[in-house]
Amino acid sequence: MAVRKFTWQDLPALLDFIGTVQAQNEQDRKVRQQSFQENLRQPDLYPEENCLLLEADGGILGCCLIFPEPSIRRAVLALDVAPQIEGSTLEEELVKQAISRSKELNAKVAHICLGQDSLRSELLQRAGFHLARVYWDMKWMGDHLPQADAPTGFTVRHFQPGDAAALTEVQNAAFTGSWGFCPNSVEQIEYRSSAGNTSHQGILFLYDQDQLAGYCWTCLAPSDGKTKGIIGMIGIAPDYRGKGISKPVMVAGMEYLQSIHVNEIGLHVDGNNTPAIRLYTSVGFEKVAELHWYEYTL
Ligand SMILES: CC(C)(COP(=O)(O)OP(=O)(O)OC[C@H]1O[C@@H](n2cnc3c(N)ncnc32)[C@H](O)[C@@H]1OP(=O)(O)O)[C@@H](O)C(=O)NCCC(=O)NCCS
Repeated sequence: MAVRKFTWQDLPALLDFIGTVQAQNEQDRKVRQQSFQENLRQPDLYPEENCLLLEADGGILGCCLIFPEPSIRRAVLALDVAPQIEGSTLEEELVKQAISRSKELNAKVAHICLGQDSLRSELLQRAGFHLARVYWDMKWMGDHLPQADAPTGFTVRHFQPGDAAALTEVQNAAFTGSWGFCPNSVEQIEYRSSAGNTSHQGILFLYDQDQLAGYCWTCLAPSDGKTKGIIGMIGIAPDYRGKGISKPVMVAGMEYLQSIHVNEIGLHVDGNNTPAIRLYTSVGFEKVAELHWYEYTL
């Protein structure tokens, strides 16, 4: 058994491994593999340093991506292991090596997100992690979208080529101060807005005349052979908060998802984020599960 760093020669075997552990059917597998590969190639990840592989008997049994967020001195870990080694000392070793790499990156904390019933929580606690934040997994339960027209003078339009700088600015302005948010560069936003799970039509801007007041960024994820629409990010610029304008841009995002016939709509939200939860509840979302963010202080 060895934990070692990824090289590009590992890519085919790694994608096979990811396809097997992350998806139950062929249709989902391709999408998961594409999305994993896009993560691997995202600006600032440097997979040859920040992707660790656990190898045993000549095959890949585990993988951990360590996403560096230097400006907030955080590293986010994304861990996948084969079912037969879940909870084992092999998985523990992979986690330990990921912690060491996070230290080398000069991070102050490492974070990892788990489903509420994940067996991994015990292993993480043994390794020194503690539960830091509870997020809600919410699902839209409505049968029709509420009416939510933008106020007079406001207009909604979708993202167009050349909008990455504006999207970066409004996202950073809206989320700065939110737990775990790391400001994005224009290059990162350019890359993510062209990823396979998102589309320009699915990124909606709310303008007050020519001033960008808020946005809703939708994306897609495979879910048991079906397509799930996701409200990935929604933000209102600080000067425009508390005026009730989040609902029109949210509904515009949901209208887009309905127009492409997604099978369901979901989102994740920090359980402490009262304005966001009130917004989501008011359009028909309900909490269906929790996600648990674990933290390791380095
Ligand atoms: C979440 C967010 C988009 C909501 O927009 P907003 O302009 O602040 O809120 P709105 O004025 O449209 O009101 C939405 C709901 O939140 C409530 N609300 C607004 N500000 C609030 C506050 N400070 N405390 C409690 N509730 C608040 C409103 O009363 C309304 O609920 P209601 O319909 O039950 O009355 C905005 O606060 C934001 O950009 N936050 C930072 C980014 C973020 O957290 N995004 C969501 C996670 S992806």
